[in-house]
Formats: sequence, C-alpha cells, structure tokens
Amino acid sequence: MNKPKVLITRRWPATVEAKLNTLYDVTLNDDDHSFSIDELKTALQNYDAVCPSVCDLLPAEVINVNDRRCKILGNFGVGFNHIDIQAAKQQGIIVTNTPGVLTESTADIAMTLLLMTARRGAEGDRLVRAGQWSGWCPTHMMSSDVTGATLGLVGFGRIAQAMARKAHHGFGMKILFFKPTLAETAIVENLQAVRCETLEELLPQCDYISLHCPGGVETRHLMNDATLNLMRPTAHLINTARGDVVDSKALIKALQEKRIAGAGLDVYEGEPAIDSGFLRLENVALLPHLGSATIATRTAMGEKVLANLAVFFAGHALPDRVV
Ligand code: DGY
Repeated sequence: MNKPKVLITRRWPATVEAKLNTLYDVTLNDDDHSFSIDELKTALQNYDAVCPSVCDLLPAEVINVNDRRCKILGNFGVGFNHIDIQAAKQQGIIVTNTPGVLTESTADIAMTLLLMTARRGAEGDRLVRAGQWSGWCPTHMMSSDVTGATLGLVGFGRIAQAMARKAHHGFGMKILFFKPTLAETAIVENLQAVRCETLEELLPQCDYISLHCPGGVETRHLMNDATLNLMRPTAHLINTARGDVVDSKALIKALQEKRIAGAGLDVYEGEPAIDSGFLRLENVALLPHLGSATIATRTAMGEKVLANLAVFFAGHALPDRVV
C-alpha cells in the first residue's frame, strides 16, 4: 500500500523529520522558506496531510481550494488563529494542534520578559555593547522590584497557571487573574490567587500584567488606549500570547508618554513585521516569538503532530482535535 503523502511547511527538529521520512511519503521544506498562499493551495491539492506552523496563513481562500486532496491539517503549534477554523469545519477538514508540551517553555519566556522589562535587562545589554557604561553609581539604571510584586494574568489556562507557579513560588509574587469563567479551586488555592470579575478590575491593581488569552476576533486589541490607561504608571505589560491582542500604536504611545513603565513582547501584530515605533523605545524588551523555542519543546511539538497523524491514518479518535 502507498504511504500517505505528507507535506511539512517549515523545517522541524531533525529527529522528528527523520521519523516522518520513515513513516510517510513526506515532502520537507529544504530551504525553510515561508509558503505563499498559492503554494499552500497547491499543497492542499496534492497531499493527504499538510502540517503548517503558526507562521503560515490559511484563510478560507486556501481551505476552499478546488480539487482538495488534504483531509487533515496537523498544525505545529498550539495557537490556531492563523487557520480559518470556520472554513475548515465547513469543508470537513480536520485540524489538530499541540497543547500541553509548550506550557513551561512559554511561561519561562513570559517570566524572562517580565524580568527583562522590570530590571531593564535589554537596555543594560545595549548600553554595555555600545561602550557607554561609565561604571557603577548609586542612581544608575534603577528599576522595579519583581519579588513580592503583584502579577495580573489575563486568561488562566495552562501557560498562565505555569507562569503563576513560577512567579508565586519562585518570586513570592501575589497572583491576580481575569478569566470570564471560574477556575479550578485547588489551583487557585495553591497559588493563593485572586480572581477578578473584569479586566477593568484587574488592571489597576497590578505591577505586571501578562497576557495569556487566545488570539482572534474576540480578543483583538483587548489592550488598547482605554485599557492601557487603567494600568499603573509604574506597571509593565508582557505579551507572549498573540500580537493582535495589543493595539501596537496605543502601546507605543503609552510607552512614549510613560503612562506605563515598560513592556516585554514576544509576539506582534502582523509579525514578523514590527512597528518601527517599538524599535525607538528603550522601555520595551523585544523577542522574536521564542515562547516554545527550546530543542526539547519543539521536538515534543513535532512528536505531537506525528501522534495525531498516526491516529488519523489508523482511523481512530484524535487526541488534539480542534475541529
Ligand atoms: C504556538 O504554539 O501557538 C506558539 O505561538 C508557537 O509555539
């Protein structure tokens, strides 16, 4: 019997690519280029399974392509707001994702950004490299405390809870969170966390706000001029969720006018393009979407896609089915 034809849109860790090669008639993206809309359409016409990453855009135009062969999109990533899920549902294409395996590494990056913006880490690094450090002095680059400060989480899923554990048990931080529905009592008690009924209630109480909600129409520009104004002028905003949760122009203005103290960003509206306003600011730490970028996590993400494909081709129920 012929092996199923599988297309992987970007390079994956070598061990996972090697496994794919033994299991399927697989096409890898040797030069790791970013697929165009037309390439993705052709992929859906020619492969049984297409495995995109969070950087590939799959709007209805791609999903609804004529003469489609593809029956499953095995997404390499937990977020799926780059795929038109409604269109996939209508077309009967299965979509799977990779939840669970990137929780700790993403929370680690959120904590990294929190520390970088609070303690002016990126700014200090730039200063030293530029040869502009003239030596220690009592008032040089004073910054904000992390230990004992209050952290507000927007969303309280796996990644937010992992960050809360690190912040509370590691840094003695007080945890507040906003989640529209109730959270599990044991988890909340273990973190001595306090649930806020609204975002408006959460924002003014916190020294640090970290975003952990999914991207998409419902959360687009959740952090805008009005909500940023509810943060303390000494507070910092961390975003490891999705770029469009924050109105970039409003954030740049708030940072320029010192209406908030700083920000740490791993994700951007329209990434990899970055609003040049951010590049001119000292009080923002910028990372290139590194949340899940450890060798172990990226390998585990690939393994998760493999597990879903195996179950799909064996005709069983999928562990990580989105639609
Ligand atoms: C995801 O999986 O959604 C992250 O943004 C990339 O790992």
